[in-house]
This record gives sequence, C-alpha cells and structure tokens, in this order.
Amino acid sequence: VEEFRFTPEYLEKVKALIANYPPGRQASAVIGVLDLAQRQEGWLSRAAMDEVAKLLDMAPIRVYEIATFYTMFQLKPKGKYLLQVCTTTPCWLRGSDAIMKACQHAADGETFSVQEVECLGACVNAPVVQINDDFYEDLDEASLQKVLDAFKRGETPKPGPQVDRQTSAPEGGPT
Ligand code: FES
Repeated sequence: VEEFRFTPEYLEKVKALIANYPPGRQASAVIGVLDLAQRQEGWLSRAAMDEVAKLLDMAPIRVYEIATFYTMFQLKPKGKYLLQVCTTTPCWLRGSDAIMKACQHAADGETFSVQEVECLGACVNAPVVQINDDFYEDLDEASLQKVLDAFKRGETPKPGPQVDRQTSAPEGGPT
C-alpha cells in the first residue's frame, strides 16, 4: 500500500480520540489511532503508520516502535478473520495443541490467518481462540470446526463458551 488516508468516517473517530488529550499531547492517542487505521485497512501498512505519525505530529520511527511492540498490530496483510490461539499453560493443558493445528489447517491467508498469543485472560474457559474482536471459549476440535464453518458461510457464530456446562463437565476437570 503506497498511500493511506482515513475515510471521513474514520477521521471523525480519530479526531474524537485526539480530543481526549490536552493540546500538544495528541501523541497520547497513538495506540487508538493505530487501531483505527488497522480497522480501516485490515492491517497496518507503512503508509498507514506514516499517516498516523503525520496526524499526531510524531516522528514516524516512534510510531513504528509502538506498532511493532504490540502483537495486536498486524504489520502484514491477513485473512478476513484472524484466529488468535492462546497457547499459555491453562489453554495448553486443555488441548490448545489440537486447536492450534486445526487453526493452522484452516489458515489460507484469505479467509483465515492464524497467530499464537499469550493468555487472553479467559483461562476459566480454556482453551480460547480470539477471532477478530470476539472470544470463542471452551473449544474442542469439533466445536472449533463448527465455528470456522459458520464464518466460512459468512455467518458470525455466537461468541463465548461453545459447550453447555450444565450438561457437559469438561474432561478431567472438577466435577
Ligand atoms: Fe489461555 Fe489464559 S491461558 S486464556
């Protein structure tokens, strides 16, 4: 991407974010503004980061530093749905290896991309995959496949736990 401009709709949101900070402190909005750029473009191109730097009156290198530090910023184009698979210990103990394998299998770079992430803070419902902005929890291979198939059909499956805890006790878990 050689050029990046915020659409009028996104530019409104950028301005609203900047307005949260005192004059001269607009750089404090950088993470939020990068997030908006990523939402508009699907990822963060160099051109988008340069535009953010310009809008916030920051040196571009300061913006790159921030964008490369946080794993939630994608510096390469990705599929329509980003599967962020938690592989930290609680999720690992509850089968994240198999979940990761299934996600890697589904990742075609167009519909799905996959990324390994650290604890998403939802360990009580491990294993967990964050898909774009939503958490899909208590997954096993079958329920994950159902979720992925629904996305492929263009539906948005209901986020949250994918098993009914009233009727199914997790294997090996407390009873
Ligand atoms: Fe996976 Fe905490 S370990 S959500």
